[in-house]
Amino acid sequence: GGVITIDPGYKNTGSCESAITFLNGEKGVLRYRGYSIEELAEKADFLEVAYLLIFGELPTKEQNEKFHDDIKAEAVVDEDVKKIIDAFPKAAHPMGVISSLTSALTAFNPSTVDVDSEEDMYNSVVRLLGKFPVLVAWTFRKKSGLPLNYGDNTIGYVENILKMMFKKPNGEYEQNKILVDALDKLLILHADHEQNCSTSTVRIAGSSHVGLFASISAGISALWGPLHGGANQAVLEMLEAIKTDGGDTKKYMAKAKDKSDPFRLMGFGHRVYKNFDPRAKIIKVAADEVLEDLGVKDPILNIAKGLEKEALEDPYFVDRKLYPNVDFYSGIIYRAMGIPTDMFTVMFALGRLPGWIAQWREMRLRKEPIGRPRQIYIGATERKFVPIDER
Ligand code: CMC
Repeated sequence: GGVITIDPGYKNTGSCESAITFLNGEKGVLRYRGYSIEELAEKADFLEVAYLLIFGELPTKEQNEKFHDDIKAEAVVDEDVKKIIDAFPKAAHPMGVISSLTSALTAFNPSTVDVDSEEDMYNSVVRLLGKFPVLVAWTFRKKSGLPLNYGDNTIGYVENILKMMFKKPNGEYEQNKILVDALDKLLILHADHEQNCSTSTVRIAGSSHVGLFASISAGISALWGPLHGGANQAVLEMLEAIKTDGGDTKKYMAKAKDKSDPFRLMGFGHRVYKNFDPRAKIIKVAADEVLEDLGVKDPILNIAKGLEKEALEDPYFVDRKLYPNVDFYSGIIYRAMGIPTDMFTVMFALGRLPGWIAQWREMRLRKEPIGRPRQIYIGATERKFVPIDER
């Protein structure tokens, strides 16, 4: 009963209480469990941040080591998963593959979690954090025609992700600290962002008490779209198109402002940030540093900077408070790492995984009711059925 109010896109509707991530869109503030994103990106590593998001506190040295060891022990997947990967056509989009593979984990592992058991909860968390990077690396390697193999349990989580992805068929691999640090930072910056589209999807799917893997798989699908995580791929494709088209940024600015043209400036605008996206600030600096450290000159970086400058001075963007978001510069770094454009959103998923897990866990521990919004019906009133040959 009661009056139903409609809020399309939930622009003004809170869906839950949460103690995980604080976001102030007017001031450009983002904190995980009270710690500023700037400080975490500078001082923490990704696994510490994952632990913080999921369990609420930074780990002690012992907790951190145990967490890492437990994750390493889970960094294997059933051999039959290889057959599933083999069945995908080479042109399959990696986001479709990774969402399917995450769902497929339910077939080879316990698919439900006893949320009243701390141990069972912990085990499912480390299981997913261990197996997901393997699935990511295998998705990438299959596409690249590389043999599917495992990583190296003697090195760090993020280092190992890169090694699993790029190790040559003869086992050769040269570790590059600049890339490891850059990826660590990118993953931290993507690790949580409160009730965005994919996270809300994870929570609402999980609210039916389906298991963790299935809930995360739903979130991965939501992340794929170009208005959400898929924007990082769309940004790079846009920058490439501008470059191929002669580098005329003004032309694309005009397209973005033209309401009869569906084109939007990808990597710009945000539902909540109306001043700046603190993640974008850090990533812009990192992009500069990484390219310089690697000695890479990417003309795309200059196109991106040119577009940003024009947009920040343009009344259309100023009036609508549109700023570069997390996806605007991240692809430039991924590209410098040798990651193909259609894998960018998968890298986002890798970073967002701890956030999704933390939000799912919080939702279950708080015993939230099933997500079931209402509607206002605007269809036909009652009518009589017409048999098919009388229509
Ligand atoms: N280029 C041109 N115009 C834009 C853009 C853009 N990127 N973003 C918003 N606008 C305009 C929009 O046309 C509207 O204008 P008007 O008021 O005249 O109708 C106004 O700004 C408000 O936009 P909105 O679509 O009502 O805002 P929203 O909160 O529903 O959408 C958004 C937010 C992020 C989906 C949108 O800004 C967008 O489509 N951006 C491009 C895609 C993108 O970069 N997404 C990544 C988001 S951040 C990370 C993530 O979620 O993964």
